[in-house]
Amino acid sequence: MKKIVVFASGSGSNAQNIVEFSRANNAAYIVESIFCNDPNAFVIQRAHELGIPCFVFSKKDFTNDDSNSVFQKLVSINPSLIVLAGFLLLIPPIIINAFSNKIINIHPALLPKYGGKGMFGEHVHNAVIANRETESGITIHYVTERYDEGSTILQKACSLNSSDTPDSLAQKIHLLEQAWFPVTIDNLMSNK
Ligand code: GAR
Repeated sequence: MKKIVVFASGSGSNAQNIVEFSRANNAAYIVESIFCNDPNAFVIQRAHELGIPCFVFSKKDFTNDDSNSVFQKLVSINPSLIVLAGFLLLIPPIIINAFSNKIINIHPALLPKYGGKGMFGEHVHNAVIANRETESGITIHYVTERYDEGSTILQKACSLNSSDTPDSLAQKIHLLEQAWFPVTIDNLMSNK
């Protein structure tokens, strides 16, 4: 059984789904902790209800030196995988280097389109609808020191029509994320 940690900044529906999938499917991974950078984020309540330890930190705990509390906690846990599930801060190089090829992210678009700084959540969906795209989707990828640039692990698309809105697109993306994110993590952990 591989230990993983999940980083989230907001609602945490993906974090919850990743935990519930592991419990319901005898998965190859177990979520050891959830890490959150926002003391008001709903994911903290979800973690509590799931009985998963939640480590809440601030941006100043997340600097690029080995005294930062996030780095130290990660080293002590030594996870097989760090999963960014709606986590909005850039990961400091010291963490990228210490966990090389062990950090993955989910992005709510078909990268390289609609990626980069400021492209998260509803901002992505607003831009996709404004540009009248006929498809969007999700990208699960390895994490580098730059936003949304690591190699792709999986992409899944959904089609859009002229009646779609940012909200209806968000729902389609949400369904893709729920269906594919835990399975992809499980596959990665089964093959390690
Ligand atoms: C998800 O749609 C995820 O793809 C997106 O944030 C949402 C978090 O939802 N991530 C990004 O936009 C990263 N650039 P959740 O908190 O309910 O899991």
